[in-house]
Amino acid sequence: MSPKCWIVIAAATLLLGGACEDDAFEFEVLPLPADPAAYDPIESYDYMEIPADNPLTAEKAALGRYLYGDPRLSGDGTRSCYSCHVREFGLTDGLPKAIGAYQKQLTRSSPTMWNVGYHQSWYWDGRAASLEVQALKAWTGGNMGAKDTAPVLAAINAIPEYADQFEQVFGGAADEDNVPKALAAYMRTLISNGTAWDRFMAGETSALDDAQQRGWALFQEEGCVDCHAGVLLTDLQFHNVGIGMDAAEPDVGRFKVTQRDRDMGAFKTPTLRDISKSAPYFHDGSVATLEAAVRLMAGGGIDNPHLSRDKLSDRQLTDAQIADLLAFLGALDQPAVAAVRPPKLP
Ligand code: HEC
Ligand code: HEC
Repeated sequence: MSPKCWIVIAAATLLLGGACEDDAFEFEVLPLPADPAAYDPIESYDYMEIPADNPLTAEKAALGRYLYGDPRLSGDGTRSCYSCHVREFGLTDGLPKAIGAYQKQLTRSSPTMWNVGYHQSWYWDGRAASLEVQALKAWTGGNMGAKDTAPVLAAINAIPEYADQFEQVFGGAADEDNVPKALAAYMRTLISNGTAWDRFMAGETSALDDAQQRGWALFQEEGCVDCHAGVLLTDLQFHNVGIGMDAAEPDVGRFKVTQRDRDMGAFKTPTLRDISKSAPYFHDGSVATLEAAVRLMAGGGIDNPHLSRDKLSDRQLTDAQIADLLAFLGALDQPAVAAVRPPKLP
């Protein structure tokens, strides 16, 4: 890619740099979270933990970005990882519950990918202990439906550009071990940064208008931050807020992983970054609008025997206060970031 093209991308992001995407197949070097010299995550982000057996390199993340956007990775060729984690929907898919390869109806809503590299366990119930395991399951399970990876790997390895890159990055052909590693490396670069709220927190007081500042104050005073905590806007813990608990057979959530009674119906606190785009809401996509989701949470969740009562109660907010909270959540919209959309595939 020409340096001029890079400038277009850097200045206007891939959104406007469409012309460059038609360039010949190339592995762009992606900014890495672990290298402060190359990338400047907000100061308060913790250092991202990278597994020793999958060191993060720009070339690996770039390879992962291609794989992540490639439907040939799925069992029926219909879906890529990106299909359900789309930029316009805040890296989710706009559906209440996802529909996997072979039109398989899945049981939960697609969560956002922002900052997944900082998580400690993955999926709504935290059943995957590493991003690599998560990527393997997404690929070979219902999402991508590549139960038999052999034909998929053969197809990938038959593409000369991929063969070259796998040789360079992993010293061999694509296999069941290195494909998830490359996917995980790419996902670690999906860092949300530079929202109006981030700029406000960094001292730019004019970044939030009055309503947003009132909303931010309410968000703290009314205890939202107890769970939507810190710069990630999640404590990475599991709580029962009552969603779907009135179903005949409720999704048991975290309980399935721990078998502890207190984890019944508990789900990982989602980040609220880019939340205005990721409707419908909650793990089952049961709430259509952000206003309804905020009213539900500010009202203390939905009563059930396992509700996280210590942290949730009806805050009795006025309509004006709800409007302020919504204004604040709008300040969490993620500005355009290069390399979030899939590149042109080989
Ligand atoms: C058909 C839609 C679909 C496709 C395709 C898909 N995902 Fe997902 N993804 C989901 C859903 C739904 C969940 C939540 C499932 C659950 O919690 O049980 C999820 C969860 C995740 C998570 C966990 C996020 C968190 O907060 O813990 C990651 C990471 C992820 N997907 C990455 C991928 C990767 C990598 C691929 C491709 C190999 C992929 N997804 C393909 C729908 C999809
Ligand atoms: C007890 C911890 C806790 C508190 C306190 C809390 N939340 Fe949540 N929040 C969660 C969990 C857990 C979920 C996901 C629940 C599910 O899907 O089953 C969630 C989901 C949400 C969602 C939907 C996110 C999505 O991606 O679908 C919004 C919006 C939200 N909360 C806003 C708020 C606001 C505003 C407050 C303060 C009034 C608040 N929350 C207080 C834990 C909490």
